[in-house]
Amino acid sequence: MSAEAIFQPLRFRNLEIKNRVLRSNVAGRLDDYDGGGTQTRINWELKFARGGVGAIVSSWTAVDERGKIVPGFAGIERDERIPFWRELGERVHEHDCKFIVQLAHAGRQRDVPTVTFAKGLSSTDKPDPLHGFEAERATTADLEEIKRSFASAARRAREAGLDGVEIHGANGYIFTQFLSSAINDRQDSYGGTLENRARFLLETVRAVRGAVGHDFHVQVKISTTEHADAFLPWLGKGNTIDDSVQVCRWLEEAGADAIHVSSGSTFPHPENPAGEFSLEDMVRTYDVMLSSGVHTFRNYLMFRLWPANQVMKRRWERDPAEVPGRCLPDSEAVKRAVAIPVIVTGGFQQASLIAGAIERGACDAVSIARGLVANNDLVELFRQGHDLPPRPCTYCNKCLYNVLEHPIGCYDESRFASREEMIEQVMSVYTPAA
Ligand SMILES: Cc1cc2nc3c(=O)[nH]c(=O)nc-3n(C[C@H](O)[C@H](O)[C@H](O)COP(=O)(O)O)c2cc1C
Ligand code: SF4
Repeated sequence: MSAEAIFQPLRFRNLEIKNRVLRSNVAGRLDDYDGGGTQTRINWELKFARGGVGAIVSSWTAVDERGKIVPGFAGIERDERIPFWRELGERVHEHDCKFIVQLAHAGRQRDVPTVTFAKGLSSTDKPDPLHGFEAERATTADLEEIKRSFASAARRAREAGLDGVEIHGANGYIFTQFLSSAINDRQDSYGGTLENRARFLLETVRAVRGAVGHDFHVQVKISTTEHADAFLPWLGKGNTIDDSVQVCRWLEEAGADAIHVSSGSTFPHPENPAGEFSLEDMVRTYDVMLSSGVHTFRNYLMFRLWPANQVMKRRWERDPAEVPGRCLPDSEAVKRAVAIPVIVTGGFQQASLIAGAIERGACDAVSIARGLVANNDLVELFRQGHDLPPRPCTYCNKCLYNVLEHPIGCYDESRFASREEMIEQVMSVYTPAA
């Protein structure tokens, strides 16, 4: 099959990108402790702009202080941040690549407690079931403030000359906590029916639209199937694709310009990013999270004690052969329901899989995270005629397990001639120096 479909420009209502591959969000602790952006982040993003993607969707970017997931991610929570984002956008634009910033709020799902030490605001007062980070049920006044934070952050993105914003409604963060039938236990107008559970996200989309006007790109990332019981079987299933198709219709009506299809009620989740579960890497980098929630002893045993850890590994693990295009059935269902473009994430690094999905109308574009971490120039390789890159991503997930402690990069030694070559690739994000 020809890869031609990949190289067709994609026209959104307010934005055009040169091809059908977006760099999906890839977080890394590249920035200052307080959320100030750095040259290191610019170096990181330029790797992908040079490699030929049509657009970069940034990593998790906090809209306010209490909503932060971890220190050391660039934020867009105050006006002083605008010059950094402007510089980053301009540098990315030099490569004919667009830049969309992902606006996010952790709710109760953090990676590391931030300096505020406050509980995460959420739809519930129950801690997150995996790491046990504690939650405080948000009041209506809290929700109004969070909506204002998203709107102000989007306004800053526009003032910085960026090409659009993505509201992070996926992967267990604050909007999943409201949308999810497995998490949201409210009795007020933000809980109960699907319409009520979707209210907070829809109001936020309208607030963002109000702040940026009708001629600026606004997309929403959403976990269309939650599989909330995939890892911890005592939880409910959460939202199904049928629930999410309805939410996507409402998002389109509320003013979204595109839907970014993801999956999973948490992050990480067995479905996203699907692949291996390396106990060795996990145990080595889990320290702060382990002791920050209320499930410390349980999780210590769950991940260290044989045979409990083997059971967990089996529940988590996906054979690499099962990873490619895992969300395509969902994106196909969303595409049938909405007229706006649909981007889908999860297991793309093969040109024929991507081109085939676009040609049969299962999606309009794909977003790629690990495939591009492994091969920053993947799109260029497709252009040269490769169906798969010579050294593909193995979906070992070692980049994910290392991300809290070490610089973001590919950590699968088997893909490199030597350990030294792997480390050189990881450390290259610091060049040029600040
Ligand atoms: C190290 C790492 C960091 C990630 N950070 C984010 C993030 O900040 N925001 C987000 O929405 N998704 C994040 N993701 C999920 C990816 O964007 C992507 O949706 C997922 O990995 C599946 O795509 P892939 O198979 O191409 O990796 C991250 C994934 C990885 C592996
Ligand atoms: S460490 Fe490398 S090979 Fe493994 S999943 Fe991450 S990018 Fe892919």
